[in-house]
Amino acid sequence: MSDFARTTVTAALIYANGPIHIGHLAGCYLPADIYVRYLRLKKQEVIFVSGTDEHGVPITIKAQKEGKTPQQVVDHYYKEIKSSFEEFGISFDIYGRTSDPAHHKMSQDFFLKLYQDGKFIEEVTEQYYDEAADQFLADRYITGDCPKCQQPGAYGDQCEKCGSALSPTELINPKSTLSGASPILKETKNWFLPLDQWQGELEKYVNSHPEWKSNVSGQVKSWLQDGLRPRAMTRDLSWGVPIPLPDTEGKVLYVWFDAPIGYVSMTSQLTPDWEKWWKAEDSRIVHFIGKDNIVFHCLIFPAMCMAHGGYQLADQVPANEFMNLEGDKISTSRNWAVWLHEYLKEFPGKQDVLRYALTASSPETKDADFTWADFQTKNNSELVAILGNFVNRAFVLIDKNFEGIVPEKAAGTGLEADVIAALAEIPAKLDQALATYKFRDALVYAMEIARIGNKYLADAEPWKIIKEDRDKAGTVLNYAVQLVAHASLALEPFIPFTAARLRTALGLADADWSAIGNFELIPAGQKLANPGLLFEKLEDDVIQAQVDKLKATKAQMELASKQVAPIKETIDFDSFAKMDMRIGQITAAEKVEKSKKLLKLTVNDGLKDRTILSGIAEHVEPEAIIGKQVTFLANLAPRKIMGQESEGMILMAEDADGSLAFVQPSKSVWNGASIS
Ligand code: MF3
Ligand code: ZN
Repeated sequence: MSDFARTTVTAALIYANGPIHIGHLAGCYLPADIYVRYLRLKKQEVIFVSGTDEHGVPITIKAQKEGKTPQQVVDHYYKEIKSSFEEFGISFDIYGRTSDPAHHKMSQDFFLKLYQDGKFIEEVTEQYYDEAADQFLADRYITGDCPKCQQPGAYGDQCEKCGSALSPTELINPKSTLSGASPILKETKNWFLPLDQWQGELEKYVNSHPEWKSNVSGQVKSWLQDGLRPRAMTRDLSWGVPIPLPDTEGKVLYVWFDAPIGYVSMTSQLTPDWEKWWKAEDSRIVHFIGKDNIVFHCLIFPAMCMAHGGYQLADQVPANEFMNLEGDKISTSRNWAVWLHEYLKEFPGKQDVLRYALTASSPETKDADFTWADFQTKNNSELVAILGNFVNRAFVLIDKNFEGIVPEKAAGTGLEADVIAALAEIPAKLDQALATYKFRDALVYAMEIARIGNKYLADAEPWKIIKEDRDKAGTVLNYAVQLVAHASLALEPFIPFTAARLRTALGLADADWSAIGNFELIPAGQKLANPGLLFEKLEDDVIQAQVDKLKATKAQMELASKQVAPIKETIDFDSFAKMDMRIGQITAAEKVEKSKKLLKLTVNDGLKDRTILSGIAEHVEPEAIIGKQVTFLANLAPRKIMGQESEGMILMAEDADGSLAFVQPSKSVWNGASIS
């Protein structure tokens, strides 16, 4: 790393088709931000580039669903996403958009250079075409029966029921989601990047990076092992960057062609010196992404750069695995997520708590699980009980006994040498962990400073010493203040809002990483400004409310996914006419002894009172149904149930959640009215 003069850090360009959730933050943006803040603290030259990916089918599908234009969709979400990131302190130097004209120009120029240098293969293939909508269909715009599991509703690229990867021509009975029409196959010309021709170069590149995380190199090597195939870099779509060639109307650049060029075009919006950050040999490029983006960043974009020439290839691609939520995969369509804008409303000012909790259980090597119970523990037992408690004690004792002025050091308690030695161990470990993208470990090391301070105060008990030896108590508090200062530096990448509050309170203007471990940071005589409580305890009811909210979401989704039962076999009219269905009125109802399910109902059928046993005891209260008119089958052969004779059957409708409802006339009718 020391051979490089500067680092270009990118974080994946998220699709501007929805709000962002904790999975996004934990997967890519938080680690990237921690890393960048670390480099800045080390006074390294770094830029942090990201923005929204505003092309591709995810955008047009969202637009279609909401009855909006793609432009309206991306305009809305660009703003919302950008502001969520800002509020969580994700410190991009530029947050751009791929709909920007400068981006269109740069990706078109990139494409044109490859075209002119003969790097593409032109190929005519057959693609599904919707004649009614007059357009070619992207994979996601075609549904049909899955060839693997036979279930309806599979997409052209995947069946979500059985998880199989599909291609559109495999679908049984394919239909266009645009018009519902059956698509036809139609010839179309596209430009392919022959990735197979770059296989050797790519292997060399990947093999030159044995330091890549195993989840990254594992995926990449399995793609290489399967053998790379030519991949179309253009698509028959109307939304995207137009192809800069004549007679290509209705075609655009493949979204995964233009999007990574977005990193470069966004850099060009940040600085006229953009080429230095992407082309100079002493520039180092680091892509932070989620695991679903690995192949694009480690193989396809590098192949594009090789074909183009002049660009540096990524030095590191520290991809994370996924963050789950309460044991289930986070899903936008199932609303199974903690949305950042909702968190901000419900936990105002607590951005650092979420940053802390997500980093502490970051999916660095395997999928991780966010739970609200764990969030509460991280807050109450770590942030409040360790960091908050330590800092608060130090400030309060200095306020109370030394008018808020850092006391002089004199003879200590004998514990001080251990404190200094313990602190001295931290910088190297912390540095090493951050430099190698082990942010979970790094956070533990940074918090260790607060643990040391907390223990030191508990052991030294300055609140007792003060009564007989004011100088010694002052010494303890001087040491404590130094530890607070070190903690404020070490924790800055993780919980920057809290760190900034601490630096202000300490009067520590310049946050310099190399100062960690050099014990004396705050001079005696310095006036402090007590920051107040840094964190507050989260009570059970607050956490339970979040769990309940998720439970309600789940119940709703289960309801919505219930399938209406298929229609039974056809019957003839005579079979129907044989059934004598009538309206009657319940005049008495009681539970049947020893039965959970049965109610004994007395029903006035206009001729007499008849007894009907009905399995509805778990659904209605006997007292509440007396007087109600209901529909019943009057000529069902009488039968004995639990020793009692039942003369007929009450008709009930079963709701999606399994609850039962009477089938009642829309106005009160006379008892005995027959149904036909
Ligand atoms: N939009 C893609 C996604 O959300 C990521 C694009 S990253 C870039 O999965 F490199 F292409 F920009
Ligand atoms: Zn299937």
